[in-house]
Amino acid sequence: MAARTAASTAVSLNDLKTRLEDFKGCGLKATAKTLCFFRGAERARLMLIGEAPGRDEDLSGVPFVGPAGQLLDKMLAAIGLSDANVHITNTVYWRPPGNRTPSPQETQACRPFLDRQIALVQPDVIGLLGGAAANTVLGVPGGIMKLRGSWREIEIGDRKIRVMAMLHPAFLLRSPANKRQAWRDMLALIDGLEAGK
Ligand code: URA
Repeated sequence: MAARTAASTAVSLNDLKTRLEDFKGCGLKATAKTLCFFRGAERARLMLIGEAPGRDEDLSGVPFVGPAGQLLDKMLAAIGLSDANVHITNTVYWRPPGNRTPSPQETQACRPFLDRQIALVQPDVIGLLGGAAANTVLGVPGGIMKLRGSWREIEIGDRKIRVMAMLHPAFLLRSPANKRQAWRDMLALIDGLEAGK
């Protein structure tokens, strides 16, 4: 409840960051080095949400700067997008020890902040990177191969936002044979952005 009040009254991303720095309700903070908030544009038609910061992100305080992030940047560049017009974040703001998947308690603790972040960024389209982010944000179970490829909708405040689950770039690094599907995901994002114009 305290988290929801702290998050929902934040008037800007800067304000939200300060409130996250003061927040003591997520256990991940105790083991992480840095708060990892977002990178890219403060207001963006496209928002991408990954699972959790990894080692590189924990050291830098910036989401998706390691190998998976570098691949993500290449995928975005292929459809003409970059930090100038995309907002990139994660379902939790601190690195889970050993890069484990964040627990439901940890994602729930961060969720009010993520919801407020979405409300402040005002995206038309959200891409959820990987199964864990899709499960958290959509509140549905199931693997990424089942969830990807179809549009869903979430409501944040009074806005309905189109949401697409997509392959995570870290998965693509391990499994390059799935590049074709990843490309389809990127084209779907473009379609979603065009549709919302
Ligand atoms: N993987 C994620 O899900 N998020 C990051 O920020 C980096 C790697």
